Amino acid sequence: MTPTHIIEKKQAGKALSNKEIEYFIRGYVEGSIPDYQMSAWLMAVYFQGMNVDETVNLTRAMLESGDKVDFSGVPGKRVDKHSTGGVGDKLSLLAAPTAAACGGQIPMISGRGLGHTGGTLDKLESIPGFSVQMTCSQLRDAVLRIGAALAGQNSRLVPADMKIYALRDVTATVKSIPLITASIISKKAAEGIDALVLDVKSGGGAVFRRREKMEELARMLVEVGNDFGIETTALLTNMDQPLGYAVGNWLEVRECVDIMRSGEGAEDLLELNRALAGTMLKMSGITQSIAEGVRRAEQTLVNGDAYAKFREIVVNQGGDPEVIDHPENYPKAKFSQAITANDNGFIHSIKTREAGIISMMLGAGRMKKEDAIDYKAGIVLRRKKGDAVGKGELLAEIYSDSEDELLEAAKRFPEVFTISEAPTQPSPLIYKAIHRLGEESWEAFSRT
Ligand code: URA
Repeated sequence: MTPTHIIEKKQAGKALSNKEIEYFIRGYVEGSIPDYQMSAWLMAVYFQGMNVDETVNLTRAMLESGDKVDFSGVPGKRVDKHSTGGVGDKLSLLAAPTAAACGGQIPMISGRGLGHTGGTLDKLESIPGFSVQMTCSQLRDAVLRIGAALAGQNSRLVPADMKIYALRDVTATVKSIPLITASIISKKAAEGIDALVLDVKSGGGAVFRRREKMEELARMLVEVGNDFGIETTALLTNMDQPLGYAVGNWLEVRECVDIMRSGEGAEDLLELNRALAGTMLKMSGITQSIAEGVRRAEQTLVNGDAYAKFREIVVNQGGDPEVIDHPENYPKAKFSQAITANDNGFIHSIKTREAGIISMMLGAGRMKKEDAIDYKAGIVLRRKKGDAVGKGELLAEIYSDSEDELLEAAKRFPEVFTISEAPTQPSPLIYKAIHRLGEESWEAFSRT
């Protein structure tokens, strides 16, 4: 077996054996296979794909490169939620405390933002003092004491993924269904969870825009997750506009804090939180049905328990609770500008990817992994799809510490909105559930 032979075999579109995959991943982690050979192999996988067996073997080889959080002997089931990412997607900040406040045990490993999408870790780090660095035993301890921990991948948790992901990022091989699946499921399996709810998004702000491609990814994630003994369900959701109103790290934390403290906010966030947290509760055995889980999730958000749990998580991870109790005192961006409508009418569409890119330009995201983030920067939408707007009325507000970037963003921003004369019917937010036993509409699934 040689690395060149394995690369050639994949280049020719042939399936790799478990031994070949193990050899390649182990060699890369140990350093005997260099970056240039791994890059060539990733490109071959990118173009030729992998079947389910190969993807399971790749996931296992990656998982075995590091440690696993050990919950053996602990009663109950561990559950997590994971999103394929989007613009304004702050659901982890809502669903984790909501489910934990109902008795869920959630060891959540999240990622950072890159390009047009945001990342949970950056959002949490906008809270002064909040640390996302946890060892496996600290993660376990936090889950057992307070129900949830929101941390970053550490150097012992799937080191193969850490090394491979960095290379995928610079070799344009991120968008590959088997590579995404192995990357996500290996980390979830390392968390020691029993159940996983995936939020797989399609539309302008998603990894793959096309719905068929996202469904293909969802099926692979569900199949591989279940193969690892993690009961895995994917909810297929629309990302044809930013989720909620805020896009940008602190702005999104603030939106979540406001929702958890008042029980009110953007309807899409409330709906998705009920669905994700409700499904987590059913899958962890806390409720008998999804419908009951959805009701519990809603009550928990409205009665303030989710906020109390979020506060506990913040304190446990070193964050300053005063900042979330008094979000109005958080420093403001140096510059801000109102974006107003050029026409009367209804919001027909919102270019979600463009909104994510503008938010990044304002300072909220990074082009390269090393770029610094300005937590205060970003966008607050004042209109969503289907809303009426009059000429000169507010569409959004943008925030940045850089006046030049703010002026550039202000020039581009009106293009993000399309205004039509007639009202448009918004598309359903959640349209399908894919699980171990098959596929059904969310409507049908949520009644089970
Ligand atoms: N998130 C991950 O963790 N890995 C990927 O490959 C893509 C998204």
